[in-house]
Amino acid sequence: MTIDTVLVKQSFAAVEPHGTEVTAYFYRHLFEHHPGVRGLFAEHLDEQQDRLWEALGALVANLESTDELVGILTGLGRRHAGYGALPEHLPAVGASLIAALRHYAGDAWSTEAEASWAAVYGVVADTMGRAMAAAG
Ligand code: HEM
Repeated sequence: MTIDTVLVKQSFAAVEPHGTEVTAYFYRHLFEHHPGVRGLFAEHLDEQQDRLWEALGALVANLESTDELVGILTGLGRRHAGYGALPEHLPAVGASLIAALRHYAGDAWSTEAEASWAAVYGVVADTMGRAMAAAG
């Protein structure tokens, strides 16, 4: 599956006004479906939510710049090894992220948009997972 960057950008633009709610939904979804990962995160997630949101914005802004994207994701992966995150946690995070985007994107969501986001997250998980494994 190739990434349709137009669909990714359009759906991200649609959820952008709801940033805080999207990340709050994401954490709720993740902890509901995978309660075991709750302990890895700080009790209060406010700051964390903002940083996750900024990282998503940076990924979407750099979709066409492979070098930038790989640089961002490799740095994130290395730091995450220090947070106790493991590559096997990545699919759960991806599923909750897509659920949160789908929930807020409204008409900008479609089967094609979802497939493109899944492909974007495939790049995220591959690159972060490799960096985590190398650092861990
Ligand atoms: C493997 C599953 C993941 C786990 C268990 C996890 C866990 C964490 C934890 C515990 C922190 C807090 C560090 C602190 O104490 O400040 C953190 C920070 C952060 N996470 Fe994750 N995370 C995961 C995946 C991701 C993914 C896929 C992204 C982005 C697409 C992401 C983006 C961030 C960002 C931007 C920060 C702020 C700190 C930094 O940039 O290093 N995380 N994560």
